[in-house]
Amino acid sequence: MAAVLLDGKKTAQAIQAEVAAGVAALVGERGVRPGLAAVLVGDNPASEVYVRNKRKACEQVGIRSWLHHLPADTASSTLLELIRQLNADPSVHGILVQLPLPPKIDERAIVQAVAPVKDIDGFGPENLGLLAAGQPRYLPCTPHGVQQLLLRHGIEVEGAHVVIVGRSLIVGRPLALMLMQKAAGANATVTVVHSRSRDLAELTRRADVVVVAIGQAGFLKADMIRPGAVVVDVGINRQADGRLVGDVDFEGVRQVASAITPVPGGVGPMTIAMLVHNTLAAARLLCRADPLAR
Ligand SMILES: NC(=O)c1ccc[n+]([C@@H]2O[C@H](COP(=O)([O-])OP(=O)(O)OC[C@H]3O[C@@H](n4cnc5c(N)ncnc54)[C@H](OP(=O)(O)O)[C@@H]3O)[C@@H](O)[C@H]2O)c1
Repeated sequence: MAAVLLDGKKTAQAIQAEVAAGVAALVGERGVRPGLAAVLVGDNPASEVYVRNKRKACEQVGIRSWLHHLPADTASSTLLELIRQLNADPSVHGILVQLPLPPKIDERAIVQAVAPVKDIDGFGPENLGLLAAGQPRYLPCTPHGVQQLLLRHGIEVEGAHVVIVGRSLIVGRPLALMLMQKAAGANATVTVVHSRSRDLAELTRRADVVVVAIGQAGFLKADMIRPGAVVVDVGINRQADGRLVGDVDFEGVRQVASAITPVPGGVGPMTIAMLVHNTLAAARLLCRADPLAR
């Protein structure tokens, strides 16, 4: 029997409708409209599409957004100055620096320059540290999208063995931290595997849920999972013919899995929904007399 499709598009629409209601309430009660500043450097076509889609989602939920599009040869100091201005601007609640930045810019320094209360991607050390400490402020958007997609399809990870393939700072590592929390929608037994892992397929075959985030088209094959496993494909890979495919051999794996995310239409739209969710959360937090109080 073919797997159930975990529909990220529909789930993201439901989350965006909830965010839109939250935005309307914040505007009505506090007179504050959430605002997101997007910073894009250079002309990476994929990044331009991501930023466009993120701003479109902001517009749909009533969040104001601004685009700061800088040339590829922008100096780190100029970018840092822009980040400082956005940190100080009270109409900006969230700052999104679209990655990757051009190679000569110190990406880490830029990410760390974003004020932690405006770091709605949750990539900065303070927000990652809070997550690791079990007191998350903003959950990184892609892992949070994966968690919500599972929750909203009634897939319980509590007590389940989740194997995450990939340990990047934006997907695999924070997802592992999230799913091992002592909290609802978590309490999973988590294994993280990466390019140096021995007997990787042996490990993925032991999983109840496999999440793949490595950036290699069709990497996870049907014989690498156990029958009935749930498979979440985070990968986005553009084929020579322009098609987008994930890190999972979708046609093969869907014959064995019990549930699977499509690409496109799976984790991608969820990432965007969680970004607008975090921007609303940041606006709510910044409205408080002491936004740093926990
Ligand atoms: N859907 C979305 O919204 C969304 C968001 C973010 C990223 N993505 C996509 O997700 C994919 C991963 O992105 P990323 O930023 O996490 O990538 P990344 O920073 O390049 O990290 C890739 C990770 O995969 C591991 N890896 C690579 N090849 C492997 C292999 N053959 N076997 C096991 N592990 C392997 C790497 O291991 P090492 O650490 O050992 O090098 C690394 O931990 C990309 O396709 C990206 O486009 C999608």
